[in-house]
Amino acid sequence: MKNLSFLASALVAALAIPVLNGHAQEGKAVKALMMRKLENSQKVLEGVALNDFDRVAKHADELITISKATDWKVMKSPQYELYSNEFRRNAETLVQQAKNKNTDGMALAYVELTLNCVKCHKHVREVRMTRLD
Ligand code: HEC
Repeated sequence: MKNLSFLASALVAALAIPVLNGHAQEGKAVKALMMRKLENSQKVLEGVALNDFDRVAKHADELITISKATDWKVMKSPQYELYSNEFRRNAETLVQQAKNKNTDGMALAYVELTLNCVKCHKHVREVRMTRLD
């Protein structure tokens, strides 16, 4: 009987470890992606501030790529989808305005992108606070 319960808990541990590791790996990949998002948005700000159109276009383009990665879809909610689309559109506008060498257009698109960061994070916090698990 003792052996059986030992076997049972060993089995539970063996099953649980890969699951936990899987989640940890997933978390790391998401974190790395989110850090790339932060770095590229900071580079966009540098470009906007210095009126460096190539820098803005390059890093806004990176942001578009990042927003299409599988790890980007952290939650499945209509709002998350909405903010993701808005994010991509703002980044596309940044690329376009940089190509048009439109300084004011770039600045406005950057402000909109920043507001979008805050809105999506607020949504993520709200969903996590109200979730039961
Ligand atoms: C569509 C939603 C969405 C948008 C838009 C968004 N983020 Fe995030 N961001 C997330 C989610 C979700 C996480 C948290 C991932 C987790 O903890 O599971 C996150 C995490 C982060 C983190 C923390 C990374 C870490 O160390 O854990 C930073 C920094 C960040 N975002 C910056 C930004 C910036 C800057 C912008 C705008 C340029 C932005 N985000 C726009 C969804 C978004």
